[in-house]
Amino acid sequence: MSKDNVDDLIAQMQAAVKSAVGASQAMRPAGLSGLGASATAPARIGSDDQAGLINQLMLGVETRFGIKSGSLVERKLARILKDMPVNILRDWVSSMNTCTSEHAEWQSLVENLTVHETYFCRDPDLMEMVTNDVLPSLIASRESHQQLQVWSAASSTGEEVYDLAYICLKGLMQAGKAAQSEGRISPTKGWGLYVLGTDISNQALRTAREGVYGDLGMGSFRNLPQHWRAMFETVDMPAGGAMQGVNYFRIKDWVRQYARFERFNLMNARPPVSGMDLIFCRNVLIYFDDTVKLAVQKMLARAMSPGGVLVMGASVQLLATDYFESRLGRGGPWYVRNKVPL
Ligand SMILES: C[S@@+](CC[C@H](N)C(=O)[O-])C[C@H]1O[C@@H](n2cnc3c(N)ncnc32)[C@H](O)[C@@H]1O
Repeated sequence: MSKDNVDDLIAQMQAAVKSAVGASQAMRPAGLSGLGASATAPARIGSDDQAGLINQLMLGVETRFGIKSGSLVERKLARILKDMPVNILRDWVSSMNTCTSEHAEWQSLVENLTVHETYFCRDPDLMEMVTNDVLPSLIASRESHQQLQVWSAASSTGEEVYDLAYICLKGLMQAGKAAQSEGRISPTKGWGLYVLGTDISNQALRTAREGVYGDLGMGSFRNLPQHWRAMFETVDMPAGGAMQGVNYFRIKDWVRQYARFERFNLMNARPPVSGMDLIFCRNVLIYFDDTVKLAVQKMLARAMSPGGVLVMGASVQLLATDYFESRLGRGGPWYVRNKVPL
């Protein structure tokens, strides 16, 4: 679902407001132009009604997608809806209440409510810790099935997925399970790598699958270490597809071939994969309350092999303590899946 859909929706609402307002003005006696002068004006939404309906909408967002209210978008919604005739808004909110999270209008709304901020090598200390302290023992313990399976849950536009593919290839090389030739790192015969990225936003997933990023200001490349550049090649964008003055880079095939992207809502109790060795779930649980955080952490535990590693960043507390053992390194905390079944 694209932002265009939300914009369409908002445009439809605004058109509905305009026509309702227009109809009421046409019915006013000539010479009367003061606000509220016409007894035939459609019932405008009072601030209490508006707050109540917006709360209902935000509650729907929280139940379906986990995102707590109080965001900037909530205020944006309130601004847009303030002139909405009360009956139209009420009908729309109550029809939304009967739809599942898969419905196109919820999808459109969530595209606008989610924050897609991300960039390559977002936390260099964490990446270094995973490369040096986590991957060597993970690779050693996966010797029997010779496959490293990684999931970036809430991958946004894909930068984290390609980072993970890149550091796993480097980790495999350091462990003697991959070789470098003509600048490409490839796993040695028998070894495989699978990196899945999932997100609720189709728009973000589209960018992720393309794997093409522009070097615009505070964008994807704001924090890129020199050696990370090995995984990019420059790309000429077709006329009309590029912003002036921006250079575009594509993820090289030798990294990109291990990445897959799928839509997945973290509110689902059943994970899209199982047997994961490494899961990153960063900068998303901060938007959820503790009950949802716990449910998501349990779902992630279900997706992992015993001995698998979960990374959530330093700002999120581990709540599913029955299923993980905590570790603390120079790059922050990480959690090892124990054998307790779920
Ligand atoms: C700030 S980005 C984090 C990207 C990346 N993990 C990072 O740390 O750079 C948060 C992402 O979470 C996604 N998201 C929010 N709620 C979600 C949900 N219920 N299920 C799946 N993804 C969700 C958003 O669409 C957004 O792309």
